[in-house]
Amino acid sequence: MSTKGRYTITAALPYTNGPIHIGHLAGVYVPADIYSRYLRITGNDVAFICGSDEHGAAIPMRAKKEGVSPQVIIDKYHTIIKKSFHDFGITFDNYSRTSASIHHETASEFFKKMYEDGKFIEETSEQLYDPEADQFLADRFVTGTCPKCGNEEAYGDQCENCGSTLSATELINPKSTISGAEPILKQTKHWFLPLDQYEDFLREWVLVGHKKDWKTNVYGQIKSWVDDGLRPRAVTRDLDWGIPVPVEGAEGKVLYVWFDAPIGYISSTKEWAQREGKDWEPYWKDKDTKLVHFIGKDNIVFHCIIFPSMLKAEGSYILPENVPANEFLNLEGNKLSTSKNWAVWLHEYLEDFPNKQDVLRYALTANAPETKDNDFTWKDFQARNNNELVAIFGNFINRVVVLTNKYYDGVIPAPAAFSEIDQQTLAELKAYPAVISSSIERYRFREASQELMNVARLGNKYLADEEPWKTIKTDEDRTKTVLYVALQIASALATLSEPFLPFTSTKLKGILSVTPSGVEGSVETQWNEISTKEILLPTGHQIGKGELLFSKIEDTEIQKQLEKLEATKKANQAENNTVEPQKDTATFEDFTKLDMRIGTIIEAEKMPKAKKLLVLKVDTGINIRTIVSGIAEHFSPEEVVGKKVTVLVNLAPRKLRGVESEGMILMTENPEGKIVFLNPDEDEVNAGAVVS
Ligand code: 2FM
Ligand code: ZN
Repeated sequence: MSTKGRYTITAALPYTNGPIHIGHLAGVYVPADIYSRYLRITGNDVAFICGSDEHGAAIPMRAKKEGVSPQVIIDKYHTIIKKSFHDFGITFDNYSRTSASIHHETASEFFKKMYEDGKFIEETSEQLYDPEADQFLADRFVTGTCPKCGNEEAYGDQCENCGSTLSATELINPKSTISGAEPILKQTKHWFLPLDQYEDFLREWVLVGHKKDWKTNVYGQIKSWVDDGLRPRAVTRDLDWGIPVPVEGAEGKVLYVWFDAPIGYISSTKEWAQREGKDWEPYWKDKDTKLVHFIGKDNIVFHCIIFPSMLKAEGSYILPENVPANEFLNLEGNKLSTSKNWAVWLHEYLEDFPNKQDVLRYALTANAPETKDNDFTWKDFQARNNNELVAIFGNFINRVVVLTNKYYDGVIPAPAAFSEIDQQTLAELKAYPAVISSSIERYRFREASQELMNVARLGNKYLADEEPWKTIKTDEDRTKTVLYVALQIASALATLSEPFLPFTSTKLKGILSVTPSGVEGSVETQWNEISTKEILLPTGHQIGKGELLFSKIEDTEIQKQLEKLEATKKANQAENNTVEPQKDTATFEDFTKLDMRIGTIIEAEKMPKAKKLLVLKVDTGINIRTIVSGIAEHFSPEEVVGKKVTVLVNLAPRKLRGVESEGMILMTENPEGKIVFLNPDEDEVNAGAVVS
């Protein structure tokens, strides 16, 4: 059980370039809320902080697409996102936004302090520039091939395939996302954080200091980063959307969004403290405060390497105690995607399932992507609701409440002597708070949610075994005792469910007529009292009438959701069917430079740690060579062996994940987005045949 302490809990600031979906909720906001609620009700001082991330290239890009100003975009999505959080019971103490003046001031001061203390390197270097759009290209404004894994759609700041953080100039075949033009290099001045100088600090602090208590997926990513060697990173950008760089000679430049966004946690804390008449500093500067960042795995490097190095460089801040990052949630077997509308949007969910916020919270927690990517399916959602929330939790509460009302007009009866089974059941109940606490404190929210369900299982089994509806005819004292014991379990459930199922917990407290603690005569049970107090709900206490906590979700409702996704798939396919415009003319000479042959794949294996890559041995007729191909998500190694394919054999060799690839397999996509090879119809074509 935790001792009383001070916690600053942050949840990743969502970009205001779209609404939020179940992936966000499962990965970050529900676990962060469970943790914050739990710490509050166990007597800790908690600042649960979030806000909208309103800078960066994604916002002006979205604005451009919608033909409006960036301000219109951030206002629109800030409002939608804030409402979704509120609707799902996410109890931020403050939800701010990075366009707020308090944030601009805080981030500017932070930068200035580091600047004055000589913590940056100032460097004029060549950066990618779009000659058509007349602007520098960084981050999301440029795409190209990832030098680490070969993904052809990597962004200028990150590859979403292998998770590598990149600089735009590292991309192979870069292309402007604004005009499609090939960028040129142009000189510009920027300020860099010399991360290489923080390597020893990071090793000592995380790799030694948190080897045991941080999640292995988080630790592993940090270790591989640090072991790869850190390089200075630019913390400013040539952009007209963001916080102006607050030093002379920086006109037209803004702070890099990943420099200002995490400082948003600090400014949001300040905003909260001002409103509440508190001092913000202990929440960020007192070494006894525990700072915990809840994020998704794509944010690990920023929260575990860059932001801690910034905090260390500034000098007066504490460092995170833990960063329990989650993996990703998929939806019905495919990656969640805002641009492809492959998502369950929170505001749309509530239209289809009004008042079922807890069902989604529960389904997402029970299946949370804590240690690996997980899949959300509507069938699983239905099963979690029907087989667990309705059949176990709801059924138990309903039986206790209905029987107490039926036999005793809702007044808790006096128990007779406890049987061994009663004592054992009460003893088991008392053990649960510590079990659930231990899971939550180790950030194992799935496990915690299952232990909560086990409390309801305990109650259900007890009623089924003791059958008070039968003993009422033969041994009324027994019925009174059994209902009394069952009501103690119901009371504990009302408290233990609060972090996970807050709406249900409130409803249950209402049904049990439990007024909040602090009010005279309150019989609300505190978390820690469940294991220490003899009586949770006393004899003579009047409970309310029964009310269903959960209701069954029918197949037709699930079918409707599946059809919605099917329609999205079809719309995406139709969009993909649009024919790309013809490229610029190539001369015959250009064409003859390409040497394309028919080859046969003779061996194939997966590239370790790269989801998309297969390492192939291809007989090109000229020789047998290694080709690394990004087809692993479409074909298993076994499937491709023996296939005839078209190979560009004279492409300059390049290294992908340390393996030299000597050529390229030509392919195309079918309307479903599946890769298909360009292979000859004629079986008699031999390896080595020239394609012309
Ligand atoms: O990945 C994202 O959605 C970012 N907007 C998260 C920012 S977290 C923090 F540092 F602000
Ligand atoms: Zn990559």
